[in-house]
Amino acid sequence: MTWSCDTCLAWHTSHSPHRAVAAGHHGPIDHVPAIITREAAPGDFDRYFDEAFQELSPESRHLRFFTAIRELPDNVRARLADVDGYRNAAVVAFDAAVMLPDHPEGKAIGVARWMTGDDGPPELSITVIDEYQGMGVGARLMDALLALARKRGVQRIIADVLRENTGMRTLINRYRAVVQRSGDPLVVRYRIDV
Ligand SMILES: CC(C)(COP(=O)(O)OP(=O)(O)OC[C@H]1O[C@@H](n2cnc3c(N)ncnc32)[C@H](O)[C@@H]1OP(=O)(O)O)[C@@H](O)C(=O)NCCC(=O)NCCS
Repeated sequence: MTWSCDTCLAWHTSHSPHRAVAAGHHGPIDHVPAIITREAAPGDFDRYFDEAFQELSPESRHLRFFTAIRELPDNVRARLADVDGYRNAAVVAFDAAVMLPDHPEGKAIGVARWMTGDDGPPELSITVIDEYQGMGVGARLMDALLALARKRGVQRIIADVLRENTGMRTLINRYRAVVQRSGDPLVVRYRIDV
């Protein structure tokens, strides 16, 4: 079956539009994934970010960045690319079952990170591209990120999550997250004691 995607304006084959609406704008994958995770290195951002960002629906961009942005401002890109493994660290997930030129580890399908600001505990964020959502990738990334945080001596992480984001709120509740005041009625702030 061939159908046109309202979001990316491309024609897709094989997925039904009804499944696509349920699972993300490109529909669910139609193979068995081989999910692996590893700590992000400087350079991963330039290599993988743009293509993964293109695979996020407007809704996922809205849930992640609190606005359905089409492009990230340069200062935000620079912040996200700046991983030192301590103040700012990230874990990347790949599907090793997908063979792509110049991607020896497979297709980049998600990232979880903490970023430390001028004050307060580091802040967690996590993104899985639409066609892999709901398959356990987010949980794998959370497990790997919290294991890394323990290794690096991080004791507390906070996460600001849009109240409407049931997926992320379900996921974070699995990690005994404590709800704190966020100061914004649209945002729930969680604290995880690592
Ligand atoms: C939120 C997000 C990271 C979750 O990742 P995921 O790979 O889809 O989640 P998983 O498949 O690992 O699911 C983890 C748990 O959340 C639940 N869940 C996932 N999506 C859900 C949804 N939309 N509604 C309700 N529960 C949901 C799963 O059922 C699972 O719970 P269970 O183990 O009790 O069954 C992912 O959907 C995403 O990137 N969303 C867009 C960006 C975003 O919201 N980022 C968070 C901003 S901080």
